[in-house]
Amino acid sequence: MTWLTDQHTKPLGSKLHNTIVTVTGGAGFIGGHLVDALLTLGARVTVIDDLSNSDASTIAQQIDQHPEQLRFIQGSILDPVSMSSAVEGAQTVLHLAALGSVPKSVEDPARTWVVNATGTMRVLSAAHKAGAQRVVYSASSSAYGDNPALPKQESQAPEPESPYAAAKLGGESLCRSWSNCYGIDTACLRYFNIFGPRQAADSAYAAVVPAFLKCYLNNQSPTIFGDGTQTRDFTHVSNAVYANLLAATSDQPINGQTVNIGAGVQTSINQLAQSLAQLCTVNDLDPIYQPPRTGEVQDSVSDIARAKAVLGYEPVTSLDEGLESTTRWYQQQHLHAGNSSAE
Ligand SMILES: NC(=O)c1ccc[n+]([C@@H]2O[C@H](COP(=O)([O-])OP(=O)(O)OC[C@H]3O[C@@H](n4cnc5c(N)ncnc54)[C@H](O)[C@@H]3O)[C@@H](O)[C@H]2O)c1
Repeated sequence: MTWLTDQHTKPLGSKLHNTIVTVTGGAGFIGGHLVDALLTLGARVTVIDDLSNSDASTIAQQIDQHPEQLRFIQGSILDPVSMSSAVEGAQTVLHLAALGSVPKSVEDPARTWVVNATGTMRVLSAAHKAGAQRVVYSASSSAYGDNPALPKQESQAPEPESPYAAAKLGGESLCRSWSNCYGIDTACLRYFNIFGPRQAADSAYAAVVPAFLKCYLNNQSPTIFGDGTQTRDFTHVSNAVYANLLAATSDQPINGQTVNIGAGVQTSINQLAQSLAQLCTVNDLDPIYQPPRTGEVQDSVSDIARAKAVLGYEPVTSLDEGLESTTRWYQQQHLHAGNSSAE
């Protein structure tokens, strides 16, 4: 947790030490970093994950290092028995489990709806039944869709463009309604393109930062869908972790509010490709352009004023620092993989 300084962790640690926190999807990319932070801050953590989009390697290491603090349930959030076991004794539930891909949701909208919307309802029900005080939900900036107004503010009407966006937005409505009807506090963190170490680079659905890095490190040209002028608010994973910790420890009720979690910097895909090529010191690998993918929006950047006001959030890692440290991490993995295959 090198990115959170004492100034960040001291107030959080005193509130999280020895509290029981459940993390759904805790074996995944963002969830794994969140679990690292919670363990360092002394929380007692239960992870529920069905490993449908992750493996057990990170969680196995975390259990090795913190055997008394971490419990892992391999199971689905849709399964009431696994879910009720996962939330036993929990004060706070951080809900990250989801099917995270826009193209996959276009291929199988029903599955995406069941896991992302119905699954969120199951998590809320189980948390409420177990007497948890708060559920923090990982929402998505895809809810804004192609509404041209920038930066994206939470007061804008949502215009989900894909089954993924629709299901994630459904999850927000469920959180708000659970706060209203059942008195359990909820918070919806709308993340903007999160990137960082340990994000999957190998799937056809890989996010753009690891996909580009994988190409550059293998001396291949990256593929850009569309003309590359589309923009995103690339946000280092430490910022999403910090937002979860702030929401989990807020002294004030959050009442189902939605808050943007981004870095607030607009970057085109072409600019991203250029920055990563520079960091990887390659200059002769021009991107290959393919037709745009269905369901993807043109422009996105966050206004984080509400996150500041409600949670005291501000980014702990800037875009440049995040891209640099993430590139270093993938370079080390690449070297390590090369060395082990040469042995
Ligand atoms: N990565 C981003 O840029 C981004 C942006 C916006 C929102 N989000 C949201 O953040 C959350 C975490 O995303 P991530 O990038 O870490 O994705 P991820 O796929 O790495 O993590 C999700 C985890 O959930 C697990 N999972 C899936 N279905 C499950 C089920 N039925 N029961 C239990 N576990 C299940 C997967 O195995 C995986 O480990 C998701 O809710 C996603 O929608 C991510």
